[in-house]
Amino acid sequence: MYKIEGTNITFEDVGALKLKGLNAYGIEVTNLSYPFEEREIELIKYLIADQLLVVLPKCNLSVDQFYNLCDQLGVVSTYGQYRSRKLLDNTKFYSYLDKDDCPIYPGLVRVTGEKDSKGNFLGIAPGHSTLLNWHNDQAGRDAVKVKRNDKIKGIWSYERPLPEVIALQGVKGTKGSITEICQLVDSYNAEDLSIKNWFKNVRLEWGYVDGEDKIYDSDVVHKEDKIKRILPIVTKAINGKEGLHFSPSQTVAIDGKSEKEYNELKEYIMKNYVNQNYIYRHYWNDGDIIFTDQKTSIHRRVGTHKETIPMQKLSKRLLHHVEIHIHNLNNAS
Ligand SMILES: [Fe+2]
Repeated sequence: MYKIEGTNITFEDVGALKLKGLNAYGIEVTNLSYPFEEREIELIKYLIADQLLVVLPKCNLSVDQFYNLCDQLGVVSTYGQYRSRKLLDNTKFYSYLDKDDCPIYPGLVRVTGEKDSKGNFLGIAPGHSTLLNWHNDQAGRDAVKVKRNDKIKGIWSYERPLPEVIALQGVKGTKGSITEICQLVDSYNAEDLSIKNWFKNVRLEWGYVDGEDKIYDSDVVHKEDKIKRILPIVTKAINGKEGLHFSPSQTVAIDGKSEKEYNELKEYIMKNYVNQNYIYRHYWNDGDIIFTDQKTSIHRRVGTHKETIPMQKLSKRLLHHVEIHIHNLNNAS
């Protein structure tokens, strides 16, 4: 019987089941329902940090309840949105607005291919790109500069550091789509000490990847994806274990090394890390919620038989996406 550290709660008490795939990580919790008690919030926090992936299947929360849950788990990343500040730029299309055009849930974005009557997409670009390859939300994070035309003049930048957790809520039309999540912790920890030490000297350049591994369809290129950043490949997951911070669709080179060396490294990681042993496949149902680590994990959207999903399907599919800073959880560093 698996007991949750520091508590008398067992996995059985909360209907927690280990997920298939993702090797040692990932758990599904079925016995929790809204409104959550404080100890249940603590439990979800604990499980996210310990397991890197927590799935709450068909818990059917409203958008308000989902946002409220994210808010209780940590600090929601708001991307510079404020409840009292009117949205005038394109973010208004993928945010829920009050009667004054201010965001009701700062930082919550709709991921969908749905359009309004004027032809504007009602979601962020990943929701209306038929291809959504491996990624986390690292690209250009602290370097993104967006000019705002509202009364707050100046430059809008993404927040630092990278929020450790992504929360996704399946709202409608999700059946038939899959989110794959790959953790890069177990395979790193299985490496020999000499290889670990080699990795510790590697710094990767993040930028725009074209060709087979690109994230989105060719006509969707985000300015922020083209901004270069140099980051160490070894980082600590939220459970305190070391793993790789890598994404085949976002990393482009080893800092200071040749293209050949990067290509060899990429091939090695794709073979030994991004493989079935470490990938969890979430077959979506409306009402599901996923919390996943993004420091040492990558994720992608796939259809049931192929990697892309047709626009027709995406225009009926809606997910809510929130990023959460939870770095002080369970004293994980
Ligand atoms: Fe994503």
